[in-house]
Amino acid sequence: MHEFKYINKHLYCERVRVADLAKKFGTPLYVYSYHTLIDHFAKLKDAFRQVSPLICYSVKANSNLALLKALVNKGAGLDIVSGGELFRALRVGCPAKKIVYASVGKTDEEIEEAVKRGILFFNVESLPELENINRISGKLNKTTSVAIRINPDVEAKTHKFITTGKITNKFGIDLKSAYNILLLREKFRNIRISGLHIHIGSQITKSTPYLAAITRIVGFIGRLKKEGIELEYLNIGGGLGIIYDNEKPQTAVKYARKILPLLKKAGLKIIMEPGRFIAGNSGILVTRVLYVKNTPKKKFVIVDAGMNDLIRPALYGAYHQILPLCAERYTPNAAEKVDIVGPICESGDFFAKERRLPKLKEGDFLAVMGAGAYGFSMSSNYNSRRRAEEALVVKDKVFVIRKRESCRDLIRNELIPPFLSGW
Ligand code: LLP
Repeated sequence: MHEFKYINKHLYCERVRVADLAKKFGTPLYVYSYHTLIDHFAKLKDAFRQVSPLICYSVKANSNLALLKALVNKGAGLDIVSGGELFRALRVGCPAKKIVYASVGKTDEEIEEAVKRGILFFNVESLPELENINRISGKLNKTTSVAIRINPDVEAKTHKFITTGKITNKFGIDLKSAYNILLLREKFRNIRISGLHIHIGSQITKSTPYLAAITRIVGFIGRLKKEGIELEYLNIGGGLGIIYDNEKPQTAVKYARKILPLLKKAGLKIIMEPGRFIAGNSGILVTRVLYVKNTPKKKFVIVDAGMNDLIRPALYGAYHQILPLCAERYTPNAAEKVDIVGPICESGDFFAKERRLPKLKEGDFLAVMGAGAYGFSMSSNYNSRRRAEEALVVKDKVFVIRKRESCRDLIRNELIPPFLSGW
C-alpha cells in the first residue's frame, strides 16, 4: 500500500494535496511519503521475523539524510558502497555495527575509514581486495570482518544493466575460488571471514532466481560446515522488485514463505539489503508542463524535469506511470497519445513515449510515480541544471529535506586559473 492516492480528483501524498506542494516549492520537486517508506521497511521486517534479520537499507537507492534517519530510527542498518555513503550513514547516527560495505572498487582511503570506524563487515568482491583489506587492517592493528560476495551464476531475469549474479558480471567471486580463499583463511591474519554475501540483481519480480542462488549458497555453507569452516552471517542482498507498470512482484510475505526454509537451514544470522522495495514507491517526481508541441508525426508534452532529475527511462528504457495532479479532465475519451519529454538537449531525454494521457496544457502538473528509488540519487547537473528540491510529507505536515540548488551551488568547486583572467 502506498500513500499516494486521488481524493476528489486531486493527487494526495498522505494528507497533503501534491499540487499545493508544487505551487509552494516549485518544480521539479521530489515528494516522499514518510509512512510509505517506513511501512515498507516494517513489512519486510515482519515477513522475516522468524529469522530476525538485520535489514540494511541500500543507501544508493535514495541517500537523503532525512530518509536514512527515518529508517535508522526504526532500527534499520545501512548497506553502503562508498566513502561518501559511509559519511552519510555515520552522519545520521547509524551504529557502525549495522553497516555493511559492498563495491568492486573500494579505495585504500575508503577501506581505512571503514576499518577505523569498525563497520559490521565488508562484502569482499575479489582476492586482491581481500589482500588489501588485510594489509590495511594490519597497518591499523585491527581485525576486520568480511563476508565473501559469491557470484552464484544465476540469471535474475531483469534488465541486463542491473543483473549482477551471472559469472560474466564484474561482481563477486565464483564458488570454487571462494572455497580456495576459505581454505587459506589463516593466511589473512587481520581478517575474519565471518559470512557470505549474494546480490543477484535489482527489480527482480520472481522468487525463482533467489531460490536458485540461495539454494546454491546454502549448499555451500553446509559443505563448509562439514569441513569445520564455521560462518556467522548470510547476507542475501537486495533486489526485490516493485510495481511500476503491470508487474506482479512477489510480496514480502510470499518471498519470505519461499526462502525462509532455506534461511533456517543455513542457521546463520541473516542480513538483507533492500533499496527499491523500501524507497521506490515512497517518492514521486512532480513536474510542470512548459509547452505542448505538435509536429506532423507526434505530440510532445515538454515538462520542466529532465533526464538529469530522473535518468531511469533514458538509461534503462524504464517505465514510470505518469499521473496528472488534477485528474478533473481525465476521461478516457479525452485521452491522447503523447511523448512526455524534458528540456535537455538529448533525444533520450524522455519520461514516456506514446503514452495515453488526458489532454494537457501549459502549467498542468504531472507526477512521475515510483521515483523514490534511483531517482534523486542518480540525478546530475547535466546542462547546468540545478538539482530539484525534495520534500517529505508526514500526515498533514511537510518538511523540505533538500533545498533546490542555486546557480552558486553549480559552480561551487570550480576555479578559473589566474592566467585566463589576465593574471
Ligand atoms: N546490495 C547491493 C550489493 C547492490 O548492488 C544493490 C543495488 C542493492 C543491494 C539494492 O538493490 P535493490 O533492492 O534496490 O534492488 N539504478 C538501477 C538499480 C541499480 C541497483 C544497483 N545495486 C535502477 O534504477 O533500476
